[in-house]
Amino acid sequence: MGQYILMKDSFLADVEHADPQIYNVMINELNRGRKGLELIASENYVSKAVLQTMGSVLTNKYSEGYPHKRYYGGNEYIDISETLAINRAKELFGAEFVNVQPHAGSQANMESYFALLELGDPILAMSLDHGGHLTHGHGVNFSGKFYNFTSYGVDPETKLLDMDVIRKKAIESQPKLILAGFSAYPRELDFKAYKEIADEVGAYLMADIAHIAGLIAAKEHPDPVPYCDVITTTTHKTLRGPRGAMIMGKEEHETAINRAVFPGMQGGPMDHVIAAKAVAFQEALQPDFKDYSKQVKRNAKALAESLMENGGKVVTNGTDNHLILLDISQYNMGGKKAEHVLDSVGIFTNKNMIPFDTRSPFDPSGIRIGTPALTTRGLGTNEMREIGELIVKTLLFIDDDTTLDSVKYSIHNICSNYPLYPDYTILR
Ligand SMILES: Cc1ncc(COP(=O)(O)O)c(C=O)c1O
Repeated sequence: MGQYILMKDSFLADVEHADPQIYNVMINELNRGRKGLELIASENYVSKAVLQTMGSVLTNKYSEGYPHKRYYGGNEYIDISETLAINRAKELFGAEFVNVQPHAGSQANMESYFALLELGDPILAMSLDHGGHLTHGHGVNFSGKFYNFTSYGVDPETKLLDMDVIRKKAIESQPKLILAGFSAYPRELDFKAYKEIADEVGAYLMADIAHIAGLIAAKEHPDPVPYCDVITTTTHKTLRGPRGAMIMGKEEHETAINRAVFPGMQGGPMDHVIAAKAVAFQEALQPDFKDYSKQVKRNAKALAESLMENGGKVVTNGTDNHLILLDISQYNMGGKKAEHVLDSVGIFTNKNMIPFDTRSPFDPSGIRIGTPALTTRGLGTNEMREIGELIVKTLLFIDDDTTLDSVKYSIHNICSNYPLYPDYTILR
């Protein structure tokens, strides 16, 4: 018996005939999401409108260049779409310029370095093991190979960023660019303080807001725009758009950034994704996106509190944003096993280094947990409290099948109460 997935206004039925294997991958992935709780801090669920736009005829077009300055003909509609994306992003963030073409966050960072710096220039950024990103100077990444990074981390006691220490490092290393941004830091960034340091040492200030872009757009996190030369972000995390990225900043850097993106680093833009970015930005401009972002934070706080009430060790004892770092060293296992056992009961997280971790990045001492996806799915603080309890129970009773079965049952109930993409029906 074949399986049928009915998606209104979608062409998925054709995939079943063209490629049953990939069709099954899509069905299985939808079902995996429906049967579990997505707590990976960098993931989210886009709207059907964003999904449909990505799966549209706009994927067929080539449009190297920028609106009204293209190397290919037939771009009159693509120009409208890219201009809408740019204007909506400008409205959302209040930036002087926006480039919506970067294919991904890593490319956006590379393009920004290319635009502002010479190869080998000094950069000051947060280290990966304290919450930074690979593109912030890790040796295995282009960033660490092409530029001369000095890294800063968090305070050994508080696990918070200490602006005095960052200032000292800036004075010592005389960077040409200071980077503010993270993949795993549960507190807010003080962009004004970064700007004062950047001015003192004559450096550019760049923010990588990949994780917190949605919170910033909703004014639920301090605003980097007044202070930064250049800001990069992915569009698929808290911003809840398609997989991709963008760069924004001060007008004086617009030409250099545009040249660094195309022809510097990329070829033709992904027009279907840019159009989907425009749709997501339109959604983020609506009042309910502010409610959503507030709820993301409320949910993260409730989950952190519940983890701690149940004996969990939360780095910095809480969160001000969408993510939590859980120190699992007390459970006598590494992050690899913890991620695996949580996965097996239907709680999706990722293993993560915690500051001053003594274990390897492949099996670190932490789990990163985020609330953007489950908040989109409709879960509130009551469910978050329950999930905190379930996470701790799972980690404590890893070998007790009866307890794990009861956790699975609770998760099944939560999932049934909050169906994922409920309009999409699978007939068997
Ligand atoms: C802070 C930060 N910058 C950049 C990136 C890279 O984004 P992408 O995976 O789209 O290349 C990420 C992704 O996790 C990130 O967290």
